[in-house]
Amino acid sequence: MEKVTIIIDGREVEGIKDQSVLDVARENGIPIPALCYHPEVSTSGGSCRVCLVEAHQNERMRLVTSCNYPVRAGLEIRTDTDLVRRIRKGVLELLLARVPDSEVIRDMARDYGVGEPRFFKDEGEDNRYKCIACGLCTLVCEEVVGVCAISMLNRSREKAPGTPYHKASNACIGCGACVYVCPTSAISMKDEGDTRTIWGKQFTMIRCSVCGNPYIPDAQVDWIVKTTGKDKAFFEKCPDHR
Ligand code: SF4
Ligand code: FES
Repeated sequence: MEKVTIIIDGREVEGIKDQSVLDVARENGIPIPALCYHPEVSTSGGSCRVCLVEAHQNERMRLVTSCNYPVRAGLEIRTDTDLVRRIRKGVLELLLARVPDSEVIRDMARDYGVGEPRFFKDEGEDNRYKCIACGLCTLVCEEVVGVCAISMLNRSREKAPGTPYHKASNACIGCGACVYVCPTSAISMKDEGDTRTIWGKQFTMIRCSVCGNPYIPDAQVDWIVKTTGKDKAFFEKCPDHR
């Protein structure tokens, strides 16, 4: 692993060659807003564009998405210039017009001085929808969980994750990883008593033998046991009581 030194907002910081600018910035406590990127997912990032920064190299400046721009020796990054703020504001304005019901987007947009959306605002059902179609949920399902229960369906404004034919998926194990990773809280999951409901499917939750709290779907336990060979007895207790 080759170490390289770059400059971010006037500070010299160290990263690994080809690591993303966003990761290096985060490791050094330099904030850059980001929505569609997750470090555990190799192919995430590049769609929401809120992580745009100025990249200066060889006397040239380009606006790049920091979540998938690789660090190289001699690179200088500026994360908060007038130009970056202006473009980011425009990006947030468009996102807000698309999903005006998303609190996350509304808060980010407010921080950048965006008022009410001046582009498209739908008065129909879509206004309650919060999905920015970043695809992170489907990538986590495929790459991290390894089950491929959901995929991106439809096109343009209708594009959103879903199960095949919008039917309860045999592949889904009810783990909720898609819910936890979604940057805009667009996926609903309900835990009631011993039952979890997600993607139109119900799962029975296993209760911890110590505290009695339901904490993991039995289908998820079966999946882990099958794919890792772990002893099922391990799941009799929740993480707090192991
Ligand atoms: S549900 Fe969330 S994670 Fe999935 S595509 Fe929409 S915004 Fe992205
Ligand atoms: S976080 Fe970089 S484009 Fe979405």
